[in-house]
Amino acid sequence: MKNIILTADRPTGRLHIGHYVGTLRNRVRLQNEGNYDEFIVMIADAQALTDNASNPKKVRDNVTEVMLDYLAVGLDPKKITFCIQSMVPALPELTAYYMNLVTLPRLLRNPTVKSEIKQKEFDNDKNGIPVGFANYPISQAADITAFDANIIPVGEDQEPMLEQTREIVRSFNRIYNTDILTECKAVLPQIESCYRLPGTDGSSKMSKSLGNCIYLADEENEIKKKINSILTFPRNVEDPGIVEDNVLFIYLEAFATDEYFEKYYPEYKNLDELKEAYKKGGIGDGIIKKFLNSVMQDTIRPIRERRKEYEKRIPEVLEYLKEGTEKCIKMSDNKLKEVKKVIAIDYFDNDSFLKEQIKKYNN
Ligand code: TRP
Repeated sequence: MKNIILTADRPTGRLHIGHYVGTLRNRVRLQNEGNYDEFIVMIADAQALTDNASNPKKVRDNVTEVMLDYLAVGLDPKKITFCIQSMVPALPELTAYYMNLVTLPRLLRNPTVKSEIKQKEFDNDKNGIPVGFANYPISQAADITAFDANIIPVGEDQEPMLEQTREIVRSFNRIYNTDILTECKAVLPQIESCYRLPGTDGSSKMSKSLGNCIYLADEENEIKKKINSILTFPRNVEDPGIVEDNVLFIYLEAFATDEYFEKYYPEYKNLDELKEAYKKGGIGDGIIKKFLNSVMQDTIRPIRERRKEYEKRIPEVLEYLKEGTEKCIKMSDNKLKEVKKVIAIDYFDNDSFLKEQIKKYNN
């Protein structure tokens, strides 16, 4: 079996360190391991429109922002096919056929969709939940199956989408007595603290709408300011520190490898040692913030600098997207053909329909 890696992001804003530890870092790792036949990274603008219908300008502008963030973290256009979702006509067409395989209650039971609906408070909106929004897990199944993708590097919040996709794949293959659709599995972050990075305000998720993000494009002083703004449990320096649910330590967990200790905090070999000492007391949060700042600056600096280089070469950047999208249109058109054949709606792809009907009408 081929290894086809596929993933996507909604272009609703610049990418932040939550995206980085949640999935971007895994993508770079998978890219560098090179164990794949195809690696597609899609900018899911159509999905972004499912809850931004009245804000197309935002989606349009963020296509380039997200593409720049991809290149900035080190995704390599020589190794990866980049694609704009809305330009691939096979995707909504596949979605239409998959919609017949999923019940409404099943869609609304999806925990990620549920919590998004809650967060967006569609209910309070006189217009209610857009059908397209509730339907987006099905369109995501189309994104994945259109390319036979089996490896999906995503954040943990996407697991319900992949479960939904697998259900659609199984129903389709069973109903049409075929095996043309491929089951996929998620590649989640390697450390659990990276599943969902909290925001700098301590709220459970880093999210643009909450204004608690450290962006991959942030300048040095912005990063420093954001880290210094993180609230910690008030205590005297000599008192024992608490590491559980401590945003500083969650971030260190995600970023502070042993090399950073050697470089910036040689009193301790690694995070475990620092945690033990912190729990005993005597280490103030200012010192921890300073260390975290050094780590974050070293992490983000090369990303920001690479972004700035690409910002000088926008025509080239957009050309990668255009070329990749053209390739994806071809690949997914082939898959759509296979799907239509299995559903027996491939009327004029060959002469079998014509022959059947001639026979039926005896001419
Ligand atoms: N729902 C994903 C997100 O919000 C984006 C997405 C769209 C996606 N299509 C996909 C992710 C296909 C993985 C595979 O981040």
